[in-house]
Amino acid sequence: MATTSGALMSDGYQLPEEERVPTARKAETYEELVRRLSHQSVVKHFDAYADVPWDDPEYRIDPDDPRWELGPDDSLGGTAWYRAQPAGVRSRIGLHMFATFMKLGVQFESVLKRGLLDYAAKLPNGATEFRYVYHEVIEEAQHSLMFQEFVNRTGFDIPGLAWWQRIGARQVIRFARSFPELFFVFVLGGEDPIDHVQRALLRSGRPVHPLLKRIMQIHVTEEARHLCFARHYLKHNAHRLTRFQRFVMSRRAPFILAIMAQLMLRPSSQIVRTYGIPKDVIREAYTRNPAHRAKTLEALHKVRDLLVEIGVVTPRAQRLWKWLGIWEAPGPA
Ligand SMILES: [Fe+2]
Ligand SMILES: [Fe+2]
Repeated sequence: MATTSGALMSDGYQLPEEERVPTARKAETYEELVRRLSHQSVVKHFDAYADVPWDDPEYRIDPDDPRWELGPDDSLGGTAWYRAQPAGVRSRIGLHMFATFMKLGVQFESVLKRGLLDYAAKLPNGATEFRYVYHEVIEEAQHSLMFQEFVNRTGFDIPGLAWWQRIGARQVIRFARSFPELFFVFVLGGEDPIDHVQRALLRSGRPVHPLLKRIMQIHVTEEARHLCFARHYLKHNAHRLTRFQRFVMSRRAPFILAIMAQLMLRPSSQIVRTYGIPKDVIREAYTRNPAHRAKTLEALHKVRDLLVEIGVVTPRAQRLWKWLGIWEAPGPA
């Protein structure tokens, strides 16, 4: 099985090139950027099975492995309740959380792929985005293979989306055709927080299980292109929004981002039930934890600043952001 992957020359983690280029090449047009991202997808991509040594004994998943444990800087990992659990429970909670985030990744990427295909179907012949979007769909399919393989190997039976979330997902897919700008806000809402969390963990210096590390390295490298495209798509097309579209986007975006961040950054109800995490521990770790709120704000800051920049955070909409607890003053440009 041949692959042209080449981003991870060693086990060391490097910031993907795409992140640095938009500032380094100021003269690049939107079309040129999209063409360059397409080219990068050809020279720097990964295969879920050829590029992850699943059967290497080093990569085996052992639920008792202390490397699955949540660190003291984690919102739940820092609670006295978590630290008082036996080592095997601490590692299982950590592994269960990683497996849940991977399953969410599979489900989010399913919505994303279906939306991207619908978006591409509406493009005229010759559109630069068509090729790029197909590259992204292929990459997301590889990610989903990786994530589902990880879930399967943990042995946890992670449930799918709840019925109300499935209804929401169908609506998001429709946006890809009828209102692609709002669809790409959803894309950033799903990709940005998890990208932020993965980068933070890779940089933390904490011992990370090699399988998890490999998956995150591959994901972070390819997601840099996806985030870059979504951001530039919004910047490039924002001026075409009608007043009504701008209004709808200003009201829906904060809800989309708050819901996505909640899903991506907190334990599922299955985890709470399985390990009997008391309600007051959840409150201590998440609901009333200023450090967790700061982490959530930090994970959302790039997409929030972008939406401010393209003018969809009006003063009235800002009240919604504040009410949802996801507002802070935009960072420096
Ligand atoms: Fe992905
Ligand atoms: Fe992605």
